[in-house]
Amino acid sequence: MTLDPNALDTRDLYTCLSTAVAPRPIAFASTVDAEGRINLSPFSYFNVFSTTPPILVFSPIRRGRDGSAKDTLNNVHAVPEVVINIVNYAMVEQMSLTSTEYPTGVNEFEKGGFTPLASDCVRPPRVKESPVSFECRVDQVIPLGDGGGAGNLVVARVVRIHIDESVLDDKGQLDTRKLDLVARMGGNDYCRATPANLFEIPKPLRTLGQGVDQLPAHIRESTVLTGNNLGRLGNLEKLPDENLRREVGEWPEVIAARETGTEALHRLAQQYLEAGQTEEALAVLLHAAP
Ligand SMILES: Cc1cc2nc3c(=O)[nH]c(=O)nc-3n(C[C@H](O)[C@H](O)[C@H](O)COP(=O)(O)O)c2cc1C
Repeated sequence: MTLDPNALDTRDLYTCLSTAVAPRPIAFASTVDAEGRINLSPFSYFNVFSTTPPILVFSPIRRGRDGSAKDTLNNVHAVPEVVINIVNYAMVEQMSLTSTEYPTGVNEFEKGGFTPLASDCVRPPRVKESPVSFECRVDQVIPLGDGGGAGNLVVARVVRIHIDESVLDDKGQLDTRKLDLVARMGGNDYCRATPANLFEIPKPLRTLGQGVDQLPAHIRESTVLTGNNLGRLGNLEKLPDENLRREVGEWPEVIAARETGTEALHRLAQQYLEAGQTEEALAVLLHAAP
């Protein structure tokens, strides 16, 4: 199916964009209005866009039904400060409750049952229950339109960071496995970054991966190896040297697989890839060379 975004109504466009562009982290944004009344709302049109300076951006969109601005947007115009609190599993239901469209001036800390803590540098309080909170000054607000569904980029510069020490590792760094973060998917779906859901990929930045295009054709065109398998092999800097190739060629399982045929060798190599032995896997594959 191919779609023209101009031919979709706002609701269908929202469903398509927010389901495909996921999982999205959640900015739980605390702001105040000119009278100092506190507001707290979640925004998943959110990410980090710069390390130095540290810049977070989230986007309160204009309401689809009438194009009106949300309280958070009005507040950052009135008082250009925000605390962006990170959301983990322990607080996700309460966070969702605060997205209710309460009338202006209603304090969603109270509605959601959250504890406000005074910030160091900005007027909005932070959320005590949140594992990480970023106090920010709003550098600019960039409107992307003026109709229903139009986003407004709130460009927020981090001026103070608060971390709950229970989510640190023994080196004092944030530990993904302890954070238990949640993210927004399409519709009512969320996902949770439990340790069982995490997997690691060796960073390609440290080495100059040879690329999938440098692998012999019979490997690239394998009916057994997956795209992920080829990606991992392409991340090696070079083909294995003669010594490793010779050594691997003497392994009984390699001899047996070679006698069975190319597919068997590819399946054996796949087992090495799954065990994280990438060089050995490529050496096995080279024994299948026609
Ligand atoms: C997890 C989650 C993510 C949300 N993300 C956004 C978003 O990125 N932009 C937006 O305009 N509304 C988003 N909403 C809806 C707002 O939170 C909701 O409209 C809220 O009432 C706005 O509050 P305010 O008027 O006090 O600013 C989200 C709601 C939830 C539960």
